[in-house]
Amino acid sequence: MERTEVEAILDRAEALLPAVDGTRKATQIQESAVFGLVFLEDSTRTRLSFETAIHRLGQRAVAMTSTGSSTSKGESLVDTARNVAAMGVQGLVVRCRQSGGAARIADEVDVPVVNAGDGRHEHPTQGLLDAAALRSRLGSLEGRRILIVGDIGNSRVARSDIYSFTALGAAVTLVGPPSMVPWHLASLGHSIVVSHELDPVLDQADAVVTLRIQRERSSSGTVPSDYREGFGLTKDRCRNLRREVPILHPGPANRGVEIDDGVLEDASRCLVLDQVRHGVAVRMAVLERAMAGASG
Ligand code: CP
Repeated sequence: MERTEVEAILDRAEALLPAVDGTRKATQIQESAVFGLVFLEDSTRTRLSFETAIHRLGQRAVAMTSTGSSTSKGESLVDTARNVAAMGVQGLVVRCRQSGGAARIADEVDVPVVNAGDGRHEHPTQGLLDAAALRSRLGSLEGRRILIVGDIGNSRVARSDIYSFTALGAAVTLVGPPSMVPWHLASLGHSIVVSHELDPVLDQADAVVTLRIQRERSSSGTVPSDYREGFGLTKDRCRNLRREVPILHPGPANRGVEIDDGVLEDASRCLVLDQVRHGVAVRMAVLERAMAGASG
């Protein structure tokens, strides 16, 4: 998306925040729309956030997960989605293991499809909500340098954060060991650099996003034993950040691995729950936009 489109979504999300906080009702987007949530990979935040967004818009959600569904009998992702669409839902929200899965579904159904995370590929609403939380704290992302630390190669959040942050004028430093941050990731954009050390770049940071090690997506399924020593956000390490620098994590966090308890509990810096709050508003804005596109 172009900067203007990202900004339009974030502006609308900001206007919808009172509806998330329960201080104002949102306007209904359409008479009795039903959204199908097809979540074939585990989720806490994204699924409940989309459900909450749909309820706040005065609409209904029907949700399915892989457990208890006919995917256990071998039904494919696309067939599953086509069947849910055939029930007459007005939109689909899809999380799946397959990179590109949401786009494949969008080619097959006649209703809007929102990608809620597809394999290692992208997690667009997470990228938008992280930008919303940062914009709310920093005012603007223009000219800021944001560190994204961790298992970048396996991270759909990192990819979507890169797109949203750089669209808003920020520069990004991708930080982690060479096995998790290959040099070629710098080619994702002209304002992106790679660092295989964290400590020397801490003083450049205007914000830090730390990521979960994606054990389920690595071939070994383990975390390198020296990861915390080199890249974990410990209390000591955070003392080398400027006082006002916020810390984000998309969740779920591996406490004591990529981030320590004391950093997660530091309300002056840690935006984790603020990210979740902005996430509902961003998803309301995205769903409104999808439905406006569908009817326009
Ligand atoms: N941030 C995020 O996608 O969390 P869930 O996997 O719990 O949805």
